[in-house]
Amino acid sequence: MAEALVLRHVSAGYGETVVLEDINLVLAQGESLGVIGRNGVGKTTLLATVMGHTTLHQGEVWLGGARLDRLPTFRRARGGIGWVPQEREIFPSLTVRENLTIGARPGHWTQERVFDLFPNLGARLSNMGNQLSGGEQQMLSIARALLTNPSVLLMDEPTEGLAPVIVEALAAVLSRLRGAGALSIVLVEQNSRVALAFPRGPSSWTRGASSTTANRPRSAPTPNDSQRSSASRKGSWRSMRRRSHRRATPGPAIS
Ligand SMILES: Nc1ncnc2c1ncn2[C@@H]1O[C@H](COP(=O)(O)OP(=O)(O)OP(=O)(O)O)[C@@H](O)[C@H]1O
Ligand SMILES: [Mg+2]
Repeated sequence: MAEALVLRHVSAGYGETVVLEDINLVLAQGESLGVIGRNGVGKTTLLATVMGHTTLHQGEVWLGGARLDRLPTFRRARGGIGWVPQEREIFPSLTVRENLTIGARPGHWTQERVFDLFPNLGARLSNMGNQLSGGEQQMLSIARALLTNPSVLLMDEPTEGLAPVIVEALAAVLSRLRGAGALSIVLVEQNSRVALAFPRGPSSWTRGASSTTANRPRSAPTPNDSQRSSASRKGSWRSMRRRSHRRATPGPAIS
């Protein structure tokens, strides 16, 4: 299966501070990956590094065979990365309709399809972003990312701070998204119930050591694929440590 997202020996952080160290990851088309970790371990930093919001000290990021790590964020988004930020980042002074159309691009995901996933949004089209509940804002954030028709969707703790009933509804949506066509997903979650239900073998991160398993879509597993997948990932995310960066010169800046 074709590779969707590849990180090779990535070390990244903020300015001279290194948060991620020597991260390796291969996510194939249609694969899903769950990431669990304690507060401050670097989960958001991982996604932010793919988006180009951090300082890359070392390594490479590839999307569908194109090298991303020297591109500005907007070109990464255009290249096919969808981003559901931890803070949701809904445009408060735009309507739901405007929030949805602002980055929309043609493809599989249409407004009709996202309203099928989130029926509430269809009824709130004329409301401003700041008139939505937390759950509705989260749905809008996911719907907005889907409408960019990404090849890789990065979701940062989508259930954080939501009422249990909304968490259940979102978990059902996440299951539908997993394995939806060729969409590859990286889901960061603190809610272990949601994370464990997402891929069959979620990653577990601790400071200084981590491991991960990415999963092929349910529709297309083969014994050979899963054996190869598991073997190739054993020990592939070597370590993730937060420490002061002592090098005199910062790593290559993201331009
Ligand atoms: N903009 C920033 N500038 C400097 N340091 C930062 C910045 N953002 C995060 N950090 C630091 O990087 C480390 C990793 O933070 P990150 O937000 O990636 O953790 P996280 O695993 O997503 O945590 P949480 O579960 O709380 O969301 C933390 O020590 C944090 O203080
Ligand atoms: Mg975070």
